Amino acid sequence: MPLLFTPTPISSFTLFNLLNILNFIIAYYTIMGILSTSLDTNWWVLTLPAIVGTHHNMLNNLIFVALIALLTIWILGWAFPVGGVAWRNGRNQMGPSPIPGPKGFPIFGILFHLNHGLPHQTLASMASTLSATQLMAFSLGSTPAVITSNPNIAREILNSPYFADRPIKESAKSLMFSRAIGFAPNGAYWRLLRKVASTHMFSPKRIVAHEAGRLHDCAAMLQAVAQEQSQNGVVFLRKHLQDAALNNIMGTVFGKRYNFEEQNQNSYEQVEELREMVREGFELLGAFNLCDYVPWMRFFYDPLHIKERCSCLTPRVKRFVKRVLDEHRMVGPYKKNISDGSDFVDVLLSLEGDEKLQDDDMIAVLWEMIFRGTDTTALLTEWVMAELVLNQQIQARLRHELDNAFGDNNHLTYADVAKLTYLDAIVKETLRLHPIGPLLSWARLSTSDVQLSNGMVVPANTTTMVNMWAITHHPSVWEDPFEFKPERFLKGEGGIDFDIKGVDLRLAPFGAGRRVCPGKNLGLATVTLWVAKLVHRFEWLQNMANPVDLTEVLKLSCEMKTPLKVVAIPRVA
Ligand code: HEM
Repeated sequence: MPLLFTPTPISSFTLFNLLNILNFIIAYYTIMGILSTSLDTNWWVLTLPAIVGTHHNMLNNLIFVALIALLTIWILGWAFPVGGVAWRNGRNQMGPSPIPGPKGFPIFGILFHLNHGLPHQTLASMASTLSATQLMAFSLGSTPAVITSNPNIAREILNSPYFADRPIKESAKSLMFSRAIGFAPNGAYWRLLRKVASTHMFSPKRIVAHEAGRLHDCAAMLQAVAQEQSQNGVVFLRKHLQDAALNNIMGTVFGKRYNFEEQNQNSYEQVEELREMVREGFELLGAFNLCDYVPWMRFFYDPLHIKERCSCLTPRVKRFVKRVLDEHRMVGPYKKNISDGSDFVDVLLSLEGDEKLQDDDMIAVLWEMIFRGTDTTALLTEWVMAELVLNQQIQARLRHELDNAFGDNNHLTYADVAKLTYLDAIVKETLRLHPIGPLLSWARLSTSDVQLSNGMVVPANTTTMVNMWAITHHPSVWEDPFEFKPERFLKGEGGIDFDIKGVDLRLAPFGAGRRVCPGKNLGLATVTLWVAKLVHRFEWLQNMANPVDLTEVLKLSCEMKTPLKVVAIPRVA
């Protein structure tokens, strides 16, 4: 519920400051008192030169420096509010319950805590140390942020219309994402894009209509895996998954597929250009950029040259997508030709009247689909396969389920595999143990002062996050949270029947509410089909020279730090 007025009265703020000033004066006189007392009465200090000779000055200096350091730390502690620099003026105490949080450093807040290691784990342990799992306030430079590690508070936030905007990074802005679905502010334009995408790109009918393409990409991937296995005795799976994912999205969105093995110079160059643009875009969007949080630094600090690289990439993307738009336009007219099998470019070109989009807007929307749809599916499949290689008995049980259902029939479709309960449980358990968006990928922004049910008020314009990793790894939410146990999702075996699409926030890897991932059905259909085919066709084993390493790294998505290199023994011809 938004607050119409701020419940923190001015008088309490003044009182708070007065108390602090009093504290400061008392502390000042105490320290001065200690200093003068020690100089006047501690006669033994005067004997020190006799003992340590010229070291006397040095000792005095040391004492002085230590005192100054203590004083500075004390002043900083006094000067910074709970939550850090961005939470001045009692912003964390606008409701009946204040929001706890770390004070962090001056200017930077907790940026330095987050730019190394795994931010989701750092934030989870900070929240638990400060008893701030319901909500924790912190500062990302001058940006005020809150994060929850609690499923009930997460549900309130994600489902509230007052958290339906997103903060946008510099790189995303310069790569045109402010006009795409994920970053467009909550309003008429964003609603139009969501409606068009839900009807024409992500509806169950459209997903079924594009099944042939998905099967084709999958067949090409299986063939490439078999070939690499027979050539090298080991398979670097991520590359194959990324190629298949790229083609899958290119087919659905652009109506264009590539043959990655083809040696034809022209098509090879196009594929390489596309791969390179996607790689560069991922790096730029996923990079930690200090200037997003300390804006004045952008004038002299850009070690990764993000600004420069974004301004090089944007025109390349525009040229590439514009070429595809022009090719489609040459085929037009669109309106009457739209069918379930049409690609998304056709759909966007067919919009008329108020709905008609400018070329730059279409480019942004289409480009975003490539970005969101490619790595998510590839990386999630890689995590599933890593767990299956490590847990051979689970892999064997899944293969048994597949063999029972299909024998040696190779032509499985998503409709077939969607019925397999153990496969479904494996995908869910992987999303629980390795959520590829541990902080739900994209934060939300509060558009009003919002009071939560626990009495805490999140002020307007606060970057708001959900730590899905902390929720899915908390022993009070999930039993044995660090173990891979698909049975927890099998009702017949004492597990629970669980919907992961945003209904129950104990596991909501696609987010929830009006900004929930629109690609969730497409993503799940693709990953489930791929895992089924990979396990039905090959037996997957560890490669002893490259043991499976589940260490994570958080880029745009949370991926395996060491990509999976495994042995794939062919089963069915
Ligand atoms: C399988 C893996 C996927 C996962 C785990 C995933 C996860 C997410 C998450 C956590 C969000 C933020 C939701 C929120 O704020 O509540 C999101 C947003 C989004 N996802 Fe996905 N996603 C996946 C696949 C896809 C695919 C295949 C596409 C499209 C081709 C896609 C397109 C989008 C878009 C456009 C948004 C922004 C929605 C908006 O702000 O209105 N995602 N996704």
